[in-house]
Amino acid sequence: MSAPIFAQEATQERAENARLSSFVGALALGDLVASTLGPKGMHKILQSVGSNSLEITNDGATILKSIHLDNPAAKILVNISKVQDDEVGDGTTSVCVLAAELLREAEKLIEKRIHPQTVVEGYRIASAAALRALDRDARDNGADPAAFRRDLVNIARTTLSSKVLSADKDYFANLAVDAVQRLKGSTNLENIQIIKKVGGKLTDSYLDEGFILDKRIGTNCPKRIEGARILIANTSMDTDKIKVFGARVRVEGTGKLAELERAEREKMKAKVERIKAHGINCFINRQLIYNYPESILADAGIMSIEHADFEGVERLALVTGGEIASTFDRPDLVKIGACDTIEEIIIGEDRLIKFSGVAAGEACTVVLRGATSQMVDEAERSLHDALSVLSQTVKETRVTLGGGCAEMSMSKEVDEEARQTAGKKALATEAFARALRQLPTILANNAGLDSADLVSRLRAAHQAGDRDAGLDLDEGKIKSMLDLGITESYKLKRAVVNSASEAAELILRVDDVLRCAPRRREGH
Ligand SMILES: Nc1ncnc2c1ncn2[C@@H]1O[C@H](COP(=O)(O)OP(=O)(O)OP(=O)(O)O)[C@@H](O)[C@H]1O
Ligand SMILES: [Mg+2]
Repeated sequence: MSAPIFAQEATQERAENARLSSFVGALALGDLVASTLGPKGMHKILQSVGSNSLEITNDGATILKSIHLDNPAAKILVNISKVQDDEVGDGTTSVCVLAAELLREAEKLIEKRIHPQTVVEGYRIASAAALRALDRDARDNGADPAAFRRDLVNIARTTLSSKVLSADKDYFANLAVDAVQRLKGSTNLENIQIIKKVGGKLTDSYLDEGFILDKRIGTNCPKRIEGARILIANTSMDTDKIKVFGARVRVEGTGKLAELERAEREKMKAKVERIKAHGINCFINRQLIYNYPESILADAGIMSIEHADFEGVERLALVTGGEIASTFDRPDLVKIGACDTIEEIIIGEDRLIKFSGVAAGEACTVVLRGATSQMVDEAERSLHDALSVLSQTVKETRVTLGGGCAEMSMSKEVDEEARQTAGKKALATEAFARALRQLPTILANNAGLDSADLVSRLRAAHQAGDRDAGLDLDEGKIKSMLDLGITESYKLKRAVVNSASEAAELILRVDDVLRCAPRRREGH
Protein backbone atom coordinates (compact mmCIF):
# COMPACT_ATOMS: atom_id res chain seq x y z
CA MET A 1 0.00 0.00 0.00
CA SER A 2 1.25 3.49 -0.83
CA ALA A 3 1.80 6.06 1.86
CA PRO A 4 -1.01 8.65 1.96
CA ILE A 5 0.16 11.90 0.41
CA PHE A 6 -3.17 13.60 -0.19
CA ALA A 7 -5.06 15.63 2.33
CA GLN A 8 -8.30 14.24 3.60
CA GLU A 9 -11.06 14.14 0.98
CA ALA A 10 -8.69 14.80 -1.90
CA THR A 11 -8.93 11.92 -4.33
CA GLN A 12 -6.94 10.43 -7.12
CA GLU A 13 -8.14 8.23 -9.94
CA ARG A 14 -5.29 6.50 -11.67
CA ALA A 15 -4.43 5.34 -15.18
CA GLU A 16 -7.04 2.80 -16.25
CA ASN A 17 -9.67 4.15 -13.92
CA ALA A 18 -9.11 7.76 -14.88
CA ARG A 19 -9.29 6.88 -18.54
CA LEU A 20 -12.37 4.78 -18.04
CA SER A 21 -14.23 7.54 -16.28
CA SER A 22 -13.24 10.00 -19.04
CA PHE A 23 -14.52 7.68 -21.74
CA VAL A 24 -17.72 6.94 -19.89
CA GLY A 25 -18.48 10.64 -19.39
CA ALA A 26 -17.65 11.71 -22.92
CA LEU A 27 -19.52 8.82 -24.56
CA ALA A 28 -22.60 9.41 -22.45
CA LEU A 29 -22.64 13.04 -23.48
CA GLY A 30 -22.10 12.17 -27.14
CA ASP A 31 -24.99 9.70 -27.03
CA LEU A 32 -27.16 12.26 -25.31
CA VAL A 33 -26.94 14.82 -28.09
CA ALA A 34 -26.57 12.36 -30.99
CA SER A 35 -30.32 11.86 -31.22
CA THR A 36 -30.77 15.56 -32.04
CA LEU A 37 -28.38 15.52 -35.01
CA GLY A 38 -29.66 16.29 -38.47
CA PRO A 39 -32.94 17.28 -40.07
CA LYS A 40 -34.74 14.28 -38.55
CA GLY A 41 -33.17 14.72 -35.12
CA MET A 42 -35.40 14.90 -32.08
CA HIS A 43 -35.85 17.77 -29.64
CA LYS A 44 -35.27 17.80 -25.92
CA ILE A 45 -37.23 19.38 -23.13
CA LEU A 46 -35.08 21.22 -20.62
CA GLN A 47 -36.80 21.83 -17.37
CA SER A 48 -35.16 23.49 -14.45
CA VAL A 49 -35.82 22.05 -11.04
CA GLY A 50 -37.46 24.51 -8.71
CA SER A 51 -38.61 27.04 -11.27
CA ASN A 52 -41.24 26.65 -13.91
CA SER A 53 -38.98 27.50 -16.80
CA LEU A 54 -39.23 25.15 -19.70
CA GLU A 55 -37.31 25.09 -22.95
CA ILE A 56 -37.69 22.88 -25.98
CA THR A 57 -34.65 22.74 -28.18
CA ASN A 58 -32.42 20.65 -30.39
CA ASP A 59 -29.49 23.04 -30.29
CA GLY A 60 -26.47 21.11 -29.01
CA ALA A 61 -24.88 24.03 -27.17
CA THR A 62 -28.12 24.96 -25.41
CA ILE A 63 -28.69 21.39 -24.22
CA LEU A 64 -25.11 20.93 -23.04
CA LYS A 65 -24.96 24.30 -21.30
CA SER A 66 -27.98 23.48 -19.22
CA ILE A 67 -26.82 20.23 -17.67
CA HIS A 68 -24.64 20.13 -14.61
CA LEU A 69 -21.86 17.64 -14.82
CA ASP A 70 -19.28 16.18 -12.54
CA ASN A 71 -17.20 14.44 -15.16
CA PRO A 72 -14.09 16.28 -16.37
CA ALA A 73 -14.09 14.77 -19.88
CA ALA A 74 -17.77 15.55 -20.32
CA LYS A 75 -17.04 19.13 -19.27
CA ILE A 76 -14.41 19.40 -22.00
CA LEU A 77 -16.99 18.37 -24.58
CA VAL A 78 -19.39 20.98 -23.25
CA ASN A 79 -16.63 23.53 -23.61
CA ILE A 80 -15.85 22.72 -27.22
CA SER A 81 -19.48 22.97 -28.14
CA LYS A 82 -19.63 26.37 -26.41
CA VAL A 83 -16.59 27.53 -28.36
CA GLN A 84 -18.15 26.27 -31.56
CA ASP A 85 -21.28 28.24 -30.67
CA ASP A 86 -19.30 31.43 -30.07
CA GLU A 87 -17.09 31.11 -33.12
CA VAL A 88 -19.39 29.75 -35.77
CA GLY A 89 -22.80 29.52 -34.12
CA ASP A 90 -23.74 26.14 -35.62
CA GLY A 91 -22.32 22.63 -35.64
CA THR A 92 -22.39 22.39 -31.86
CA THR A 93 -23.95 18.93 -31.91
CA SER A 94 -21.61 17.63 -34.62
CA VAL A 95 -18.48 18.68 -32.76
CA CYS A 96 -19.57 16.92 -29.59
CA VAL A 97 -20.68 13.79 -31.43
CA LEU A 98 -17.45 13.57 -33.43
CA ALA A 99 -15.29 14.01 -30.33
CA ALA A 100 -17.26 11.28 -28.55
CA GLU A 101 -16.92 8.92 -31.54
CA LEU A 102 -13.17 9.56 -31.64
CA LEU A 103 -12.97 8.57 -28.00
CA ARG A 104 -15.13 5.50 -28.57
CA GLU A 105 -12.68 4.34 -31.23
CA ALA A 106 -9.72 5.21 -29.01
CA GLU A 107 -11.15 3.13 -26.19
CA LYS A 108 -11.21 0.06 -28.44
CA LEU A 109 -7.59 0.66 -29.48
CA ILE A 110 -6.43 1.09 -25.91
CA GLU A 111 -8.16 -2.15 -25.02
CA LYS A 112 -5.96 -3.76 -27.65
CA ARG A 113 -2.94 -2.48 -25.75
CA ILE A 114 -2.08 0.40 -28.03
CA HIS A 115 -0.60 3.26 -26.08
CA PRO A 116 -2.70 6.45 -25.92
CA GLN A 117 0.23 8.47 -27.27
CA THR A 118 0.28 6.25 -30.37
CA VAL A 119 -3.44 6.86 -30.80
CA VAL A 120 -2.85 10.60 -30.53
CA GLU A 121 -0.12 10.39 -33.18
CA GLY A 122 -2.42 8.48 -35.53
CA TYR A 123 -5.24 10.95 -34.93
CA ARG A 124 -2.94 13.84 -35.78
CA ILE A 125 -2.01 12.33 -39.12
CA ALA A 126 -5.68 11.64 -39.76
CA SER A 127 -6.97 15.10 -38.93
CA ALA A 128 -4.37 16.69 -41.22
CA ALA A 129 -5.53 14.41 -44.04
CA ALA A 130 -9.19 15.16 -43.30
CA LEU A 131 -8.60 18.90 -43.46
CA ARG A 132 -6.70 18.46 -46.71
CA ALA A 133 -9.71 16.73 -48.23
CA LEU A 134 -12.00 19.45 -46.92
CA ASP A 135 -9.80 22.10 -48.52
CA ARG A 136 -9.74 20.26 -51.80
CA ASP A 137 -13.52 19.82 -51.97
CA ALA A 138 -14.40 23.35 -50.88
CA ARG A 139 -16.10 25.53 -53.47
CA ASP A 140 -15.81 29.27 -53.61
CA ASN A 141 -18.36 31.49 -55.29
CA GLY A 142 -17.29 34.63 -53.44
CA ALA A 143 -16.55 36.50 -56.65
CA ASP A 144 -19.96 35.93 -58.21
CA PRO A 145 -22.69 37.75 -56.22
CA ALA A 146 -25.64 35.82 -57.64
CA ALA A 147 -24.04 32.40 -57.10
CA PHE A 148 -22.83 33.47 -53.67
CA ARG A 149 -26.30 34.51 -52.63
CA ARG A 150 -27.53 31.09 -53.73
CA ASP A 151 -24.82 29.54 -51.55
CA LEU A 152 -25.87 31.65 -48.60
CA VAL A 153 -29.53 30.72 -48.99
CA ASN A 154 -28.55 27.05 -49.22
CA ILE A 155 -26.40 27.27 -46.10
CA ALA A 156 -29.23 28.93 -44.22
CA ARG A 157 -31.65 26.25 -45.46
CA THR A 158 -29.33 23.48 -44.27
CA THR A 159 -28.84 25.10 -40.88
CA LEU A 160 -32.54 25.70 -40.43
CA SER A 161 -33.62 22.30 -41.72
CA SER A 162 -32.59 20.65 -38.48
CA LYS A 163 -34.54 23.16 -36.43
CA VAL A 164 -38.05 24.13 -35.53
CA LEU A 165 -38.12 26.45 -38.53
CA SER A 166 -37.58 23.56 -40.97
CA ALA A 167 -41.11 23.65 -42.34
CA ASP A 168 -40.68 27.27 -43.36
CA LYS A 169 -36.98 27.11 -44.07
CA ASP A 170 -37.17 28.83 -47.46
CA TYR A 171 -38.93 31.82 -45.97
CA PHE A 172 -36.53 32.13 -43.05
CA ALA A 173 -33.44 31.37 -45.14
CA ASN A 174 -34.19 34.34 -47.37
CA LEU A 175 -35.00 36.48 -44.36
CA ALA A 176 -31.68 35.58 -42.71
CA VAL A 177 -29.68 36.18 -45.89
CA ASP A 178 -31.36 39.57 -46.40
CA ALA A 179 -30.52 40.52 -42.81
CA VAL A 180 -26.89 39.44 -43.11
CA GLN A 181 -26.38 41.07 -46.48
CA ARG A 182 -27.50 44.36 -44.99
CA LEU A 183 -24.51 44.13 -42.63
CA LYS A 184 -22.24 44.57 -45.66
CA GLY A 185 -19.53 42.22 -44.48
CA SER A 186 -19.58 43.08 -40.78
CA THR A 187 -19.98 40.22 -38.32
CA ASN A 188 -21.52 42.45 -35.70
CA LEU A 189 -24.85 40.74 -35.16
CA GLU A 190 -25.76 43.45 -32.64
CA ASN A 191 -27.13 45.35 -35.60
CA ILE A 192 -29.75 42.69 -36.16
CA GLN A 193 -32.33 42.98 -33.46
CA ILE A 194 -34.70 40.12 -32.79
CA ILE A 195 -38.06 40.96 -31.27
CA LYS A 196 -40.15 38.09 -30.02
CA LYS A 197 -43.93 38.47 -29.85
CA VAL A 198 -46.00 35.48 -28.95
CA GLY A 199 -49.09 35.15 -31.12
CA GLY A 200 -49.77 34.55 -34.78
CA LYS A 201 -47.83 31.91 -36.64
CA LEU A 202 -44.16 31.46 -37.56
CA THR A 203 -44.58 32.77 -41.10
CA ASP A 204 -46.05 36.00 -39.74
CA SER A 205 -42.47 36.83 -38.77
CA TYR A 206 -40.82 39.47 -40.91
CA LEU A 207 -37.72 41.55 -41.44
CA ASP A 208 -38.02 45.28 -41.03
CA GLU A 209 -35.40 47.87 -41.74
CA GLY A 210 -34.44 50.08 -38.80
CA PHE A 211 -34.93 49.52 -35.13
CA ILE A 212 -37.96 48.68 -33.00
CA LEU A 213 -38.17 49.57 -29.33
CA ASP A 214 -40.64 47.73 -27.15
CA LYS A 215 -41.92 50.85 -25.31
CA ARG A 216 -44.72 53.41 -25.44
CA ILE A 217 -44.42 57.05 -26.43
CA GLY A 218 -45.20 59.48 -23.59
CA THR A 219 -48.65 61.02 -23.33
CA ASN A 220 -49.49 64.24 -25.15
CA CYS A 221 -46.29 64.37 -27.11
CA PRO A 222 -46.07 63.95 -30.87
CA LYS A 223 -46.61 60.33 -31.96
CA ARG A 224 -44.70 60.68 -35.19
CA ILE A 225 -41.54 62.61 -35.94
CA GLU A 226 -39.65 63.14 -39.15
CA GLY A 227 -35.98 64.10 -39.25
CA ALA A 228 -35.53 62.93 -35.68
CA ARG A 229 -32.70 64.20 -33.51
CA ILE A 230 -32.53 61.89 -30.55
CA LEU A 231 -30.96 62.43 -27.16
CA ILE A 232 -30.43 59.11 -25.44
CA ALA A 233 -29.94 59.44 -21.71
CA ASN A 234 -29.54 57.49 -18.56
CA THR A 235 -30.43 59.99 -15.89
CA SER A 236 -32.83 60.33 -12.99
CA MET A 237 -35.31 63.09 -13.71
CA ASP A 238 -36.26 63.65 -10.08
CA THR A 239 -33.90 65.29 -7.66
CA ASP A 240 -35.86 63.95 -4.78
CA LYS A 241 -33.06 63.21 -2.34
CA ILE A 242 -35.56 62.60 0.40
CA LYS A 243 -36.94 59.62 -1.40
CA VAL A 244 -33.50 58.39 -2.26
CA PHE A 245 -32.10 58.41 1.23
CA GLY A 246 -35.33 57.71 3.04
CA ALA A 247 -34.79 60.71 5.31
CA ARG A 248 -37.54 62.23 7.40
CA VAL A 249 -38.26 65.92 7.05
CA ARG A 250 -39.99 67.89 9.72
CA VAL A 251 -41.79 71.01 8.52
CA GLU A 252 -43.60 73.72 10.41
CA GLY A 253 -46.63 73.82 8.16
CA THR A 254 -48.07 72.65 4.90
CA GLY A 255 -46.78 75.88 3.33
CA LYS A 256 -43.23 74.69 3.83
CA LEU A 257 -44.08 71.38 2.21
CA ALA A 258 -45.40 73.22 -0.83
CA GLU A 259 -42.16 75.20 -0.90
CA LEU A 260 -40.17 71.98 -0.93
CA GLU A 261 -42.27 70.67 -3.77
CA ARG A 262 -41.84 73.93 -5.65
CA ALA A 263 -38.09 73.72 -5.25
CA GLU A 264 -38.18 70.20 -6.59
CA ARG A 265 -40.22 71.28 -9.60
CA GLU A 266 -37.83 74.16 -10.28
CA LYS A 267 -34.92 71.75 -10.33
CA MET A 268 -36.74 69.41 -12.68
CA LYS A 269 -37.62 72.32 -14.92
CA ALA A 270 -34.02 73.52 -15.01
CA LYS A 271 -32.88 70.06 -16.00
CA VAL A 272 -35.47 69.80 -18.74
CA GLU A 273 -34.42 73.23 -20.05
CA ARG A 274 -30.84 72.00 -20.27
CA ILE A 275 -32.05 68.91 -22.14
CA LYS A 276 -34.07 71.08 -24.52
CA ALA A 277 -30.96 73.14 -25.23
CA HIS A 278 -29.59 70.19 -27.20
CA GLY A 279 -31.91 71.07 -30.05
CA ILE A 280 -33.60 67.68 -30.07
CA ASN A 281 -37.08 66.48 -30.92
CA CYS A 282 -36.92 63.13 -29.17
CA PHE A 283 -35.75 62.34 -25.66
CA ILE A 284 -35.29 58.74 -24.57
CA ASN A 285 -34.43 57.94 -21.00
CA ARG A 286 -33.34 54.70 -19.45
CA GLN A 287 -35.06 55.79 -16.23
CA LEU A 288 -38.48 57.24 -15.50
CA ILE A 289 -39.28 60.72 -16.82
CA TYR A 290 -42.35 61.55 -14.65
CA ASN A 291 -45.38 63.62 -15.59
CA TYR A 292 -44.09 67.12 -15.06
CA PRO A 293 -40.92 66.88 -17.19
CA GLU A 294 -42.93 64.93 -19.76
CA SER A 295 -45.45 67.73 -20.01
CA ILE A 296 -42.74 70.39 -20.45
CA LEU A 297 -41.15 68.29 -23.17
CA ALA A 298 -44.52 67.72 -24.82
CA ASP A 299 -45.18 71.49 -24.82
CA ALA A 300 -41.90 71.97 -26.66
CA GLY A 301 -42.96 69.37 -29.25
CA ILE A 302 -40.40 66.85 -28.02
CA MET A 303 -41.33 63.19 -28.01
CA SER A 304 -40.37 61.48 -24.78
CA ILE A 305 -39.88 57.79 -24.16
CA GLU A 306 -39.18 56.67 -20.63
CA HIS A 307 -37.90 53.57 -18.91
CA ALA A 308 -36.34 52.01 -21.98
CA ASP A 309 -34.57 48.76 -21.12
CA PHE A 310 -30.81 48.81 -20.93
CA GLU A 311 -30.20 46.62 -23.95
CA GLY A 312 -32.67 48.68 -25.96
CA VAL A 313 -30.88 51.91 -25.06
CA GLU A 314 -27.45 50.51 -25.91
CA ARG A 315 -28.63 49.17 -29.23
CA LEU A 316 -30.47 52.39 -30.02
CA ALA A 317 -27.30 54.36 -29.41
CA LEU A 318 -25.42 52.00 -31.71
CA VAL A 319 -27.86 52.17 -34.59
CA THR A 320 -28.71 55.87 -34.42
CA GLY A 321 -25.08 56.89 -33.98
CA GLY A 322 -25.76 58.63 -30.68
CA GLU A 323 -24.21 58.34 -27.26
CA ILE A 324 -25.82 57.69 -23.92
CA ALA A 325 -25.60 60.93 -21.94
CA SER A 326 -26.05 61.46 -18.24
CA THR A 327 -25.09 65.11 -17.85
CA PHE A 328 -26.45 67.93 -19.95
CA ASP A 329 -24.23 70.94 -19.24
CA ARG A 330 -22.27 70.77 -22.50
CA PRO A 331 -24.62 70.17 -25.45
CA ASP A 332 -21.68 70.60 -27.82
CA LEU A 333 -19.98 67.49 -26.43
CA VAL A 334 -23.00 65.20 -26.62
CA LYS A 335 -23.44 63.05 -29.70
CA ILE A 336 -27.05 63.19 -30.82
CA GLY A 337 -28.56 60.17 -32.59
CA ALA A 338 -30.44 60.58 -35.84
CA CYS A 339 -33.03 58.81 -37.93
CA ASP A 340 -35.59 59.67 -40.61
CA THR A 341 -38.83 58.82 -38.83
CA ILE A 342 -40.03 57.65 -35.48
CA GLU A 343 -43.55 56.29 -35.31
CA GLU A 344 -45.80 53.97 -33.40
CA ILE A 345 -46.54 50.60 -34.93
CA ILE A 346 -48.71 47.71 -33.84
CA ILE A 347 -47.53 44.10 -33.74
CA GLY A 348 -50.20 41.65 -32.68
CA GLU A 349 -51.84 43.36 -29.74
CA ASP A 350 -48.95 45.56 -28.73
CA ARG A 351 -47.86 49.03 -29.65
CA LEU A 352 -44.14 49.53 -30.21
CA ILE A 353 -41.95 52.33 -31.49
CA LYS A 354 -40.20 52.07 -34.81
CA PHE A 355 -37.13 54.07 -35.81
CA SER A 356 -36.66 53.98 -39.57
CA GLY A 357 -33.85 55.32 -41.71
CA VAL A 358 -31.35 55.04 -38.87
CA ALA A 359 -27.80 56.34 -39.20
CA ALA A 360 -26.36 52.81 -39.26
CA GLY A 361 -28.05 51.79 -42.53
CA GLU A 362 -27.23 48.13 -41.92
CA ALA A 363 -29.38 47.85 -38.80
CA CYS A 364 -32.57 45.87 -39.07
CA THR A 365 -35.07 44.07 -36.92
CA VAL A 366 -36.54 40.62 -37.21
CA VAL A 367 -39.96 40.32 -35.64
CA LEU A 368 -40.55 36.70 -34.66
CA ARG A 369 -44.09 35.44 -34.16
CA GLY A 370 -45.17 32.02 -32.98
CA ALA A 371 -47.83 30.20 -31.06
CA THR A 372 -46.02 29.69 -27.75
CA SER A 373 -43.11 31.27 -25.99
CA GLN A 374 -41.11 28.01 -26.28
CA MET A 375 -41.69 28.06 -30.03
CA VAL A 376 -40.58 31.69 -30.36
CA ASP A 377 -37.51 31.08 -28.16
CA GLU A 378 -36.40 28.09 -30.20
CA ALA A 379 -37.08 30.03 -33.40
CA GLU A 380 -34.78 32.75 -32.09
CA ARG A 381 -32.03 30.23 -31.32
CA SER A 382 -32.38 28.68 -34.77
CA LEU A 383 -32.31 32.03 -36.48
CA HIS A 384 -29.30 33.00 -34.41
CA ASP A 385 -27.50 29.86 -35.67
CA ALA A 386 -28.29 30.78 -39.25
CA LEU A 387 -27.32 34.44 -38.83
CA SER A 388 -23.97 33.61 -37.23
CA VAL A 389 -23.05 31.02 -39.85
CA LEU A 390 -24.04 33.38 -42.63
CA SER A 391 -22.12 36.32 -41.24
CA GLN A 392 -19.04 34.08 -40.95
CA THR A 393 -19.53 32.81 -44.49
CA VAL A 394 -19.59 36.34 -45.84
CA LYS A 395 -16.01 36.60 -44.57
CA GLU A 396 -14.80 33.11 -45.44
CA THR A 397 -16.71 32.49 -48.64
CA ARG A 398 -15.81 28.83 -49.19
CA VAL A 399 -18.54 26.23 -48.79
CA THR A 400 -18.69 22.44 -48.49
CA LEU A 401 -21.49 19.92 -48.88
CA GLY A 402 -23.63 18.55 -46.05
CA GLY A 403 -25.68 15.41 -45.63
CA GLY A 404 -22.61 13.37 -44.70
CA CYS A 405 -20.87 14.20 -47.98
CA ALA A 406 -17.95 16.15 -46.53
CA GLU A 407 -17.49 13.57 -43.76
CA MET A 408 -17.41 10.67 -46.20
CA SER A 409 -14.96 12.45 -48.48
CA MET A 410 -12.71 13.19 -45.50
CA SER A 411 -12.95 9.62 -44.29
CA LYS A 412 -11.88 8.36 -47.75
CA GLU A 413 -8.80 10.59 -47.69
CA VAL A 414 -7.96 9.49 -44.13
CA ASP A 415 -8.29 5.82 -45.13
CA GLU A 416 -5.88 6.38 -47.99
CA GLU A 417 -3.47 8.10 -45.63
CA ALA A 418 -3.73 5.16 -43.21
CA ARG A 419 -2.70 2.77 -45.95
CA GLN A 420 0.52 4.70 -46.41
CA THR A 421 1.27 4.98 -42.71
CA ALA A 422 3.58 2.46 -41.14
CA GLY A 423 3.32 1.13 -37.62
CA LYS A 424 0.56 0.89 -35.06
CA LYS A 425 -0.47 4.49 -35.49
CA ALA A 426 -2.02 3.46 -38.82
CA LEU A 427 -4.68 1.65 -36.78
CA ALA A 428 -5.54 4.90 -35.06
CA THR A 429 -5.66 6.74 -38.38
CA GLU A 430 -8.12 4.16 -39.66
CA ALA A 431 -10.14 4.53 -36.50
CA PHE A 432 -10.42 8.27 -37.16
CA ALA A 433 -11.95 7.51 -40.56
CA ARG A 434 -14.49 5.23 -38.87
CA ALA A 435 -15.40 7.97 -36.40
CA LEU A 436 -16.00 10.38 -39.30
CA ARG A 437 -18.34 7.86 -40.93
CA GLN A 438 -20.37 7.75 -37.74
CA LEU A 439 -21.81 11.20 -38.54
CA PRO A 440 -23.68 10.06 -41.68
CA THR A 441 -24.58 6.87 -39.79
CA ILE A 442 -26.22 8.86 -37.01
CA LEU A 443 -27.97 11.12 -39.54
CA ALA A 444 -29.47 8.04 -41.20
CA ASN A 445 -30.34 6.35 -37.91
CA ASN A 446 -32.13 9.44 -36.66
CA ALA A 447 -34.20 9.43 -39.85
CA GLY A 448 -35.18 5.82 -39.17
CA LEU A 449 -33.28 4.54 -42.20
CA ASP A 450 -31.07 1.48 -42.61
CA SER A 451 -27.82 3.20 -41.83
CA ALA A 452 -25.49 0.25 -42.48
CA ASP A 453 -26.80 -0.14 -46.00
CA LEU A 454 -26.99 3.58 -46.81
CA VAL A 455 -23.58 4.49 -45.44
CA SER A 456 -21.85 1.63 -47.22
CA ARG A 457 -23.51 2.73 -50.45
CA LEU A 458 -22.42 6.29 -49.77
CA ARG A 459 -18.90 5.04 -49.20
CA ALA A 460 -18.94 3.11 -52.43
CA ALA A 461 -20.17 6.19 -54.30
CA HIS A 462 -17.26 8.22 -52.95
CA GLN A 463 -14.83 5.43 -53.80
CA ALA A 464 -16.18 5.52 -57.33
CA GLY A 465 -15.19 9.18 -57.48
CA ASP A 466 -18.62 10.68 -56.88
CA ARG A 467 -17.44 13.51 -54.65
CA ASP A 468 -20.76 15.26 -54.09
CA ALA A 469 -22.71 12.17 -53.05
CA GLY A 470 -24.55 12.46 -49.75
CA LEU A 471 -27.64 11.25 -47.93
CA ASP A 472 -31.07 12.34 -49.04
CA LEU A 473 -32.82 11.64 -45.77
CA ASP A 474 -36.32 12.21 -47.11
CA GLU A 475 -36.11 9.49 -49.71
CA GLY A 476 -33.46 7.31 -48.08
CA LYS A 477 -31.25 7.44 -51.17
CA ILE A 478 -27.76 8.53 -52.16
CA LYS A 479 -28.00 11.73 -54.15
CA SER A 480 -25.85 14.63 -55.27
CA MET A 481 -25.81 17.19 -52.47
CA LEU A 482 -24.87 19.78 -55.05
CA ASP A 483 -28.15 19.22 -56.90
CA LEU A 484 -30.15 19.23 -53.67
CA GLY A 485 -28.40 22.39 -52.49
CA ILE A 486 -27.44 20.92 -49.11
CA THR A 487 -24.52 23.20 -48.48
CA GLU A 488 -22.60 23.97 -45.32
CA SER A 489 -20.02 26.55 -44.41
CA TYR A 490 -16.40 25.49 -44.84
CA LYS A 491 -15.44 27.28 -41.65
CA LEU A 492 -18.02 25.31 -39.68
CA LYS A 493 -16.80 21.92 -40.90
CA ARG A 494 -13.18 22.87 -40.38
CA ALA A 495 -13.90 23.98 -36.83
CA VAL A 496 -15.79 20.74 -36.13
CA VAL A 497 -12.88 18.53 -37.24
CA ASN A 498 -10.27 20.69 -35.57
CA SER A 499 -11.95 21.07 -32.21
CA ALA A 500 -13.20 17.50 -31.99
CA SER A 501 -9.76 16.03 -32.65
CA GLU A 502 -8.09 18.46 -30.27
CA ALA A 503 -10.55 17.64 -27.52
CA ALA A 504 -10.15 13.90 -28.06
CA GLU A 505 -6.39 14.31 -27.95
CA LEU A 506 -6.59 16.31 -24.75
CA ILE A 507 -8.71 13.68 -23.04
CA LEU A 508 -6.54 10.83 -24.31
CA ARG A 509 -3.42 12.30 -22.82
CA VAL A 510 -4.90 12.16 -19.33
CA ASP A 511 -3.70 9.44 -17.01
CA ASP A 512 -4.68 10.80 -13.62
CA VAL A 513 -7.69 12.66 -12.29
CA LEU A 514 -6.85 14.52 -9.10
CA ARG A 515 -9.61 16.10 -7.12
CA CYS A 516 -8.60 18.51 -4.43
CA ALA A 517 -10.44 18.64 -1.15
CA PRO A 518 -13.17 21.27 -0.94
CA ARG A 519 -12.00 24.40 0.80
CA ARG A 520 -13.59 24.79 4.23
CA ARG A 521 -14.50 28.02 5.88
CA GLU A 522 -12.62 28.69 9.09
CA GLY A 523 -14.45 27.65 12.21
CA HIS A 524 -16.74 25.13 10.53
N1 LIG B 1 -31.63 18.33 -45.70
C1 LIG B 1 -30.61 17.64 -45.20
N2 LIG B 1 -30.30 16.42 -45.70
C2 LIG B 1 -29.28 15.73 -45.20
N3 LIG B 1 -28.50 16.15 -44.19
C3 LIG B 1 -28.74 17.35 -43.67
C4 LIG B 1 -29.81 18.16 -44.15
N4 LIG B 1 -29.82 19.30 -43.44
C5 LIG B 1 -28.81 19.21 -42.54
N5 LIG B 1 -28.15 18.05 -42.68
C6 LIG B 1 -27.00 17.60 -41.90
O1 LIG B 1 -27.33 17.67 -40.52
C7 LIG B 1 -26.18 17.97 -39.77
C8 LIG B 1 -26.44 19.15 -38.84
O2 LIG B 1 -27.38 18.80 -37.88
P1 LIG B 1 -27.76 19.74 -36.67
O3 LIG B 1 -28.03 21.12 -37.17
O4 LIG B 1 -28.82 19.04 -35.91
O5 LIG B 1 -26.48 19.73 -35.79
P2 LIG B 1 -25.32 20.79 -35.66
O6 LIG B 1 -25.40 21.80 -36.74
O7 LIG B 1 -24.07 20.01 -35.56
O8 LIG B 1 -25.56 21.41 -34.23
P3 LIG B 1 -26.54 22.58 -33.77
O9 LIG B 1 -27.36 22.99 -34.97
O10 LIG B 1 -27.35 21.94 -32.71
O11 LIG B 1 -25.65 23.65 -33.29
C9 LIG B 1 -25.09 18.33 -40.74
O12 LIG B 1 -24.18 17.27 -40.82
C10 LIG B 1 -25.83 18.51 -42.05
O13 LIG B 1 -25.03 18.15 -43.15
MG1 LIG C 1 -27.17 22.97 -37.08
